[in-house]
Amino acid sequence: MNKKILITGGAGFIGSHVIRLFVKQYPEYSLVNLDKLTYAGNLENLHDVENESNYRFVKGDIVDYESMKDLFLKENFDGVIHLAAESHVDRSLENPAAFAITNVVGTLNLLQAAKIAWRGQFDKKLFYHISTDEVYGSLEHGGYFTEETPVDPRSPYSASKTGSDHFVKAFHSSFGLPVIISRCSNNYGPNHFPEKLIPLMIHNILNQKPLPVYGKGENVRDWLYVEDHARAIDVIFHKGKAGEVYNIGGNNEWKNIDLVMLLCSVMDQKLNRAPGTSAKLINYVTDRQGHDLRYAIDSSKLQTQLGWRPSIDFPAGLEKTVDWYLNNREWLEHVTSGAYRDYYAGMYHNR
Ligand code: NAD
Ligand code: TYD
Repeated sequence: MNKKILITGGAGFIGSHVIRLFVKQYPEYSLVNLDKLTYAGNLENLHDVENESNYRFVKGDIVDYESMKDLFLKENFDGVIHLAAESHVDRSLENPAAFAITNVVGTLNLLQAAKIAWRGQFDKKLFYHISTDEVYGSLEHGGYFTEETPVDPRSPYSASKTGSDHFVKAFHSSFGLPVIISRCSNNYGPNHFPEKLIPLMIHNILNQKPLPVYGKGENVRDWLYVEDHARAIDVIFHKGKAGEVYNIGGNNEWKNIDLVMLLCSVMDQKLNRAPGTSAKLINYVTDRQGHDLRYAIDSSKLQTQLGWRPSIDFPAGLEKTVDWYLNNREWLEHVTSGAYRDYYAGMYHNR
């Protein structure tokens, strides 16, 4: 069946993998990528699919309600997969308001635009909101996050994502808007912006710069290869039940310091450096404020009800990721120098 789908934040890390998967898997769909191209949005991530006939890019800002309403009325989308967000915890500590504006107000604008444009047709539509396991807070005493775990956000980033989740649920309860929310653990893979742990470490190991490990490196994250998240989004979008929340996770917990040590040894091998060379760059720095100790997801609902499973184990995924960064040093140079932003700022100046 033909569908016209709006994917927001498609120029970012996860969004670009979602776009690629949908472009290839659904030639009969019409896919619209709406992105503001902030520092984290990079159309270079989509070079290989940008000329496909089922794909289109629209530069736009979800915070601008009038333009979102116009877009929804003009395009009459069948579904929305909403990924656009400010996504980095450290930045949220510096500038919390930017997170409230983009993540809460931006999401509310899309919900309101959908509600107006889809009036009388809710049974044929779906608003799918991409959230995060960070809304559940921090697991200080063991256990796992399930869909029933009460939300308990602790950073401005997770507070803003929780706020957006609440608005999504409210539009379902109050107006009957068909919505789904999924909450995923930490992603890793190609095209990850080098401000996040894994790509930052790869970048710094490559350039023999210090590796900043926060606190004692004891914090635990549950890592999932980004293409597995994109596959989960595909399954949930097509088979998920409106009104439901689905957790997505890798069942793959790592203490930060163990992960950084592993990356050091993988990269020493790849770069023909003596074993132990990169580990010498590890530098314990002041801990992040309010640093959540542990995240771990129970994704059994998604696995049993919709049949999704992670497909790439961590050693293989990490090696693929390191290889991608080593083979795409130009990408890394562009995003660290900001050259791509200047280029696209010129290109989309008047659009
Ligand atoms: P990202 O920062 O790499 O990309 C975000 C994208 O949103 C960028 O392309 C940016 O230009 C765009 N954007 C930002 N503000 C916008 C605005 N006002 N209007 C339009 N576009 C805007 O983020 P990511 O890591 O790809 O995360 C995508 C989504 O997945 C986010 O909602 C995030 O909360 C969620 N998530 C991320 C992870 C993870 O590990 N990265 C895990 C779980 C959930
Ligand atoms: P990050 O990639 O920012 O993801 P999140 O905070 O959303 O989980 O950080 C992952 C973990 O790595 C987190 O515990 C913070 C830690 N970290 C460091 O120790 N050093 C760093 O330079 C960064 C960016 C993160």
